[in-house]
Amino acid sequence: MKGVILAGGLATRLYPLTYATNKHLLPIFDRPMIFYPINTLVKAGITEVLIVTSGPHAGHFLRVLKNGKELGVTHLEYAYQERANGGIADALKLAEDFADNDPITVILGDNTTDADIKKSVDNFKDGALIFLKKIENKKELSRFGVPEFGEPDKSKVISLEEKPKNPKSKFAVCGLYMYDKHVFDLIRKCTPSARDELEITDVNNLYIKEGKLSWEELKGFWSDTGTFDTLYAANKYWAKKAGI
Ligand code: DAU
Repeated sequence: MKGVILAGGLATRLYPLTYATNKHLLPIFDRPMIFYPINTLVKAGITEVLIVTSGPHAGHFLRVLKNGKELGVTHLEYAYQERANGGIADALKLAEDFADNDPITVILGDNTTDADIKKSVDNFKDGALIFLKKIENKKELSRFGVPEFGEPDKSKVISLEEKPKNPKSKFAVCGLYMYDKHVFDLIRKCTPSARDELEITDVNNLYIKEGKLSWEELKGFWSDTGTFDTLYAANKYWAKKAGI
């Protein structure tokens, strides 16, 4: 299994902070944000990693991460997404050569979690695996991809909706996915959404159509950090965990 971290986008929601550097290099307590997804991969035994980035500060990653060895990465590659906000699936398509037909674990660079995904990585065979987290607050839930479960088989995800006004369940799709080699063929089938992005949710819905998507509930803390509120909350969580 190889790992892909998506760290592109312009993060305009975090201006003026992101005038200075890429969002994924902003601090979460005592480390740059991107150290967290790297650590999630390395802890799970994934040490070959591709970072996809974009925008004016792409070069900053080299200064901070160098070749990744200090973080336990044995092979680190970088790719540059030309359309900084082309969408998550647009960024992921740059990983095709790197993946080289192997399965991949994909983490959004602004997601931090202390969940241990090693078992899921070791057990992954084919199709797609997504991770879900329960969120009670409906307004908050509307910021995410949200699954709809089947009837009467409530354990089956029958569709996913990106940022729904009326979420069909209380679960958010985390920015953590496992895919087999077919993911790149499925991305090629997608067209830009209303917000002009290639959506990862569309890719996952294609896996559902093929009966190849499974899910697990993510155990432990999980947060994205793309807004001031969530950036602050993640900082508080990781500082507290460190005993501050
Ligand atoms: O955090 C989980 C959510 O992430 C999921 O529930 C949603 O289904 C998924 O679409 C995504 O939603 P966001 O609106 O939070 O995604 P955002 O545009 O903030 O992008 C998240 C990360 O993905 C970002 O930190 C870097 C990467 N990205 C994003 C875009 C749009 C790229 O590398 N390139 C891009 O063009």
